[in-house]
Amino acid sequence: MAQQSTKQSNRQSLAKRFNQSLILMYVVTVLVTTPLIYFITKLQVYSRAEQELVLLVDVVKSIQSFVANDLRPHFMKEQIFYSPSFSGIVATSRIAKYLKQSQPQYYISNVSDNPLNPTNRVKGLEAELLNQFRKNRNMALVTTDGVIEGRNYLVSSAPKVSKKGCLRCHGKPEQAPEDVKAMYGTGSGYGYQSGEVVGVSVVGVPLEDVQSLTIRRSLIVIGAITLLFAVLFIVVNRLVRRLILEPITEITTVAKAVSHGDISREVHVRDRKDEIADLANAFELMRRSLVAAMKRMKRKT
Ligand code: HEC
Repeated sequence: MAQQSTKQSNRQSLAKRFNQSLILMYVVTVLVTTPLIYFITKLQVYSRAEQELVLLVDVVKSIQSFVANDLRPHFMKEQIFYSPSFSGIVATSRIAKYLKQSQPQYYISNVSDNPLNPTNRVKGLEAELLNQFRKNRNMALVTTDGVIEGRNYLVSSAPKVSKKGCLRCHGKPEQAPEDVKAMYGTGSGYGYQSGEVVGVSVVGVPLEDVQSLTIRRSLIVIGAITLLFAVLFIVVNRLVRRLILEPITEITTVAKAVSHGDISREVHVRDRKDEIADLANAFELMRRSLVAAMKRMKRKT
């Protein structure tokens, strides 16, 4: 009975140690996984947004260059002050309106705290950016993330500085072109001074929610890790039992029988070639020599 219990406890302790190491490995893997996934997801989300942002900013720049280089000189020559063909900002705001119909997730705006168009009044993040640009006149471009209309965006923003040419429309209201006065009235958007920061341009691309993306990805990866470890757990336990515990128990049983005088019992270990088989063979050899020695002794007596 006492023999049985030591056998039992030895047997458990080896398997238990393997299992404890496996569980520890599992816990460490799971603990490392989530922060790692968060980090990778964040990198991925931002680099994707940055690529899109660069593209969108360049598209806006191209629109403004087109107005400045191709349209404006032509219309100036003809003495026509039609604002969308004269101001890059106006052209951009019109094109942004059309783009919004098919790509509502992108954000393009030119805003001011003294706007012609009341929908272009600064708010939230835009107001903060305008303040920053006014405080620090050396700042030419800011890329940052923030919330616009309840959504997370990566935005690229630049100050809009008033120049002499701007005053044609934003100077004295009575001197503004007829189409501007007709459309926006004479209440707001005038009185710009040359050289002051009058507004900001904001181009934004949507940022995916890193946290919920991390949770979704983590659940999948942790599920896969759990499955993998469960299989590993079963396989390792069966291997330990078959390759280590069973043969050692067999050798122990025979060794105990020999110590009690029963040398007739052979060690049975499956046909294999490893350290445990070496041990079993060595033990069996010892038992056989013992049997032979006993026989010799019997014959002598
Ligand atoms: C040909 C007339 C014209 C000129 C020149 C012009 N703008 Fe404008 N600007 C407009 C109109 C019209 C709007 C309103 C567009 C809209 O409806 O979104 C506007 C809008 C803006 C806005 C957005 C806020 C608002 O008023 O609705 C800013 C900022 C702005 N202009 C700055 C400038 C600056 C800086 C210059 C010079 C570099 C300039 N504009 C030159 C006509 C002009």
